[in-house]
Amino acid sequence: MKSKVNEQPTNWIIEQIKLKALRRKIQILDFASGNGRNSIHLAGKNRIITAVDKNSTKLALYNHFEHINTICFDLETDKNWPLKEKYYDIIIVVNYLYRPKIKKLMSLLKNGGYLFYETYSVGNQNYGSPKNPNFLLKDRELINIFNNGNEILSYFNGKVTEEKISIKQRCLIKKTS
Ligand SMILES: C[S@@+](CC[C@H](N)C(=O)[O-])C[C@H]1O[C@@H](n2cnc3c(N)ncnc32)[C@H](O)[C@@H]1O
Repeated sequence: MKSKVNEQPTNWIIEQIKLKALRRKIQILDFASGNGRNSIHLAGKNRIITAVDKNSTKLALYNHFEHINTICFDLETDKNWPLKEKYYDIIIVVNYLYRPKIKKLMSLLKNGGYLFYETYSVGNQNYGSPKNPNFLLKDRELINIFNNGNEILSYFNGKVTEEKISIKQRCLIKKTS
């Protein structure tokens, strides 16, 4: 299906998922999915996407796509998330950070599942938005949050130039318990 979304997807995530997971049907959660640039690139017969975001206008850009289920929900309220526990093979989170509930992401993953996390980190305030420390990871913060009971498969913190020059952290975590 043709997409109205022109933004490039997050390449390190898209490439690794396409390499890892072509032989069986997998469930992927795109957490705070925005205008769906990553959901749209990943969706396929063997890759079923759940895309959750609080912005219904953005979700409407791709809620008609095959293999994508959209959920409009505010992930930062006290309400329970409308997401299945131990269900997803892969979760991706890009350019979104809400620390009070971040650890809960692992409860949505199957054992052996993967969390791909990429967002802005400290130092980004020198290049542009976001500048608010609530939205900027500290060095090694994703490792420190997720290393207990999980395996950190890759970690990066520094300058990236793909979308715009910015300081970002990328972490790939495997759920092992
Ligand atoms: C910077 S965009 C990133 C979107 C997408 N992950 C991407 O990389 O293209 C952040 C997204 O988080 C969503 N968001 C912010 N707060 C949220 C909340 N409380 N609950 C659900 N989604 C939220 C916004 O609506 C927005 O689409």
